[in-house]
Amino acid sequence: MTFPYSTFQIGSIVIDPPLIMAPLHEITDQPFRQMIREVGGVGLTVSEMISSEALVRHAWKAERMMITEGERPCAMQLAGCDPAHLAEAARMTEAAGADIVDLNMGCPASNVTKGGAGSALLRDIRLAEACVAAIVKAVKVPVTVKMRAGWDNSQKERAEYLDFLKMFETVGIQALTIHPRTRSQQYQGRADWSLIAKAVAAGTSYPIIGNGDVVTAEDALRMVRETGCHGVMIGRAALTNPWIFRQVLESGFTVTEAQRIDLCVRFFGLLLEILDEREAVHKIKKIGGWFTKGIRNGAHFRQRLNHIHEADELIRELEALKSL
Ligand SMILES: Cc1cc2nc3c(=O)[nH]c(=O)nc-3n(C[C@H](O)[C@H](O)[C@H](O)COP(=O)(O)O)c2cc1C
Repeated sequence: MTFPYSTFQIGSIVIDPPLIMAPLHEITDQPFRQMIREVGGVGLTVSEMISSEALVRHAWKAERMMITEGERPCAMQLAGCDPAHLAEAARMTEAAGADIVDLNMGCPASNVTKGGAGSALLRDIRLAEACVAAIVKAVKVPVTVKMRAGWDNSQKERAEYLDFLKMFETVGIQALTIHPRTRSQQYQGRADWSLIAKAVAAGTSYPIIGNGDVVTAEDALRMVRETGCHGVMIGRAALTNPWIFRQVLESGFTVTEAQRIDLCVRFFGLLLEILDEREAVHKIKKIGGWFTKGIRNGAHFRQRLNHIHEADELIRELEALKSL
């Protein structure tokens, strides 16, 4: 079965195809987003979350907000809970070229929530409203939100997320992503897709993007079928299978071991363009290891990675994998 392909819009921006690479902290930086664009099948990428506090204090390097033309449209995601700082940070991301500004209302990490940001905003709808309103007022580009199902199960049971949906409409967001786990769940249990369906049924003026536990192309298809969501966002599955978006669009799309290794080499090249060699090697050790999962001698390669410190050696090891 093929994906029921239809585009949707975030404000005036057409998301084509309606498949989105999820924001992943310390992963979806510029080289990763460019790599995933080159693989194809993605209609929108989202930056890793950027702390609005770090941005306004100039503690976040401007080059980390770089967007290249080949990866548009690209949303920049902010995390914070001070409306004035979020507004200033939003203006900075817009000036840096963000096509969309997204606000994080989902991060469950205690270092984010203890200050009141991420999923902690779901406990204070008035503060959440002030934050979103401040961003909407500050920028011309569309503003979106990514939220969880609630802080905990009791908030989810009270269906408070529906109050948030209405509030977002009043404030004027242009799309909402729902990852239907509660903050208490962290990444445990299953994402409850019935909440995505309820959000779609609520008939909001903005599109709903479903997210959570899409592991295969068939899952993406099933999410659209079961929930009616306008777009599908994929996170963790794209780390071991960056081709998942292509597979959603082209049934029967397969990937050879040589393609996996070539992608690793290409991604390493992209990392070296903006990071110094030591940082690039460090990053490829983490991420390249995921791409080589399942290939012959991949486990041996990942063990070898621990002892590699130089770019040339790493490329040689990768090329050698192809001839084994
Ligand atoms: C390592 C990691 C980092 C993440 N970083 C972010 C982030 O910066 N911003 C955000 O909104 N969500 C973040 N998330 C959540 C994902 O975007 C996504 O909502 C979640 O992984 C569920 O989707 P999946 O099942 O397709 O992975 C992160 C998740 C993981 C595993």
